[in-house]
Amino acid sequence: MIDGKKVLFSGMQSTGNLTLGNYLGALKNWVALAEEYECFYSVVDMHSITVRQVPAELRKRARSLLTLYIAAGIDPEKACLYYQSHVSAHAELAWILNCYTYMGELNRMTQFKDKSAKHADNINAGLFTYPVLMAADILLYQADVVPVGADQSQHLELARDIAMRFNNIYGDVFTVPEIYLGKVGAKIQSLQDPEKKMSKSDENPNASIYLMDDEDTVMRKFKRAVTDSEGVILYRDEQPGLKNLINIYCACTNRTPDETVKEFEGSGYGVFKEAVGCAVNDVLRPLHERYSELEKDKAYIDKVIRDNADKAAYFAGKTLRKVQKKVGFPERPR
Ligand code: TYM
Repeated sequence: MIDGKKVLFSGMQSTGNLTLGNYLGALKNWVALAEEYECFYSVVDMHSITVRQVPAELRKRARSLLTLYIAAGIDPEKACLYYQSHVSAHAELAWILNCYTYMGELNRMTQFKDKSAKHADNINAGLFTYPVLMAADILLYQADVVPVGADQSQHLELARDIAMRFNNIYGDVFTVPEIYLGKVGAKIQSLQDPEKKMSKSDENPNASIYLMDDEDTVMRKFKRAVTDSEGVILYRDEQPGLKNLINIYCACTNRTPDETVKEFEGSGYGVFKEAVGCAVNDVLRPLHERYSELEKDKAYIDKVIRDNADKAAYFAGKTLRKVQKKVGFPERPR
C-alpha cells in the first residue's frame, strides 16, 4: 500500500514497434487502472538487451515508448513512468532472487524456449534469467496487481512462486502479486496466422498492426487478414481468424462478442473487416495526435523521466534494503 492505495506494476520492452496486441493486452488496461491504484509503469530497457540491439535505436525507442505511455492517457503526475535502467535496485534485487530461483523452473519457461530458437546464435544467460529480473521488477514495488497479456502469465506465476519461497524463509517480505488479464484483449493473434500471437518481431509486416501505422495501412492489413471459408460471423474456436478480429473489435469498442455477432449477423467478412479497421483507427487516431504533440515537448518529457526515476528509486530502495538485511548483507556504517 502507498498512501492507502494498492500498488500496480507493469512494463513493456522498448524493442521493435509496439503492436495493437501491446495496446489492447496491456496499455489500454493500464490507463483504466491508473486512477484506482498507485502505479509504476516501466520502460524495461534492461530486458531489451537480452536480444542484440543497436544502441542509438534502443535509446530512441525507449523515449518513444515512454512518450507513448503518456499519449495513451497515463498522467505522469499520478503514475510513475520511468526507465528500468535508471533504477539500479532492479539489477540488485534480480541478483539476489537469482539465488532463490531454480534452473528447473527457468528451463520450463516457454518464452525462453521460443526466443532461444529464434536467436540461436545468442542464447545468453540474460535470456535465461529474464523472468527473475521480471520478478524483481514487480516485487521491488510490493505490487498487488500486474496487468499483462496472457503471454506473460507463466512469468507471473514464477514471480509469485519466488515471492512465496522468499517469504517462507524470511517472513513477510514481499507482497505476492496477482495477475490482471483484460477480458477480451489479453490474447491478440497474428492477422496472418491466428494460431500465433501478434508480435513486434514477426517478419511479415501484414501480421501485425503497429501502433504507428497510418489509417490506410490499418485498413489494408485488416482487408488481408486471414479468415476462413465458412462465411458466417460467429465467435468460436473453429474460426480462429474471425474470433481474433471479433476480439479486436470488442476491445476497441467496448462491446461483447455476443453483441458483435448480433450486430454483424448476415454481413460478409469484407464488411466486418472494414468495421474492425475503422474501430482500430478510431482508437489510434487520438493516440497519434497526442504523441506528435508530446514528442515536440522535449523539456516536459525530460522532466517526467527525471522526477519519476527519483520516485521509483525511493520505493525500490526501501524494499531492496529490507531484502539485503534479511539475507544477511552487513549494513553500511553511517
Ligand atoms: P512485452 O514488451 O513483450 O509486451 C508488453 C505487454 O504487452 C502484452 N502483449 C500482448 N497482449 C495481448 N496480445 C498480444 N499479442 C500481446 N503481445 C504483447 C504483454 O503481455 C505485456 O503485458 N516481459 C515483459 C515485460 C516486463 C514486465 C515486467 C511486465 C518486464 N518486467 C514486470 C509486467 C511486469 C514483456 O516482454 O512484455
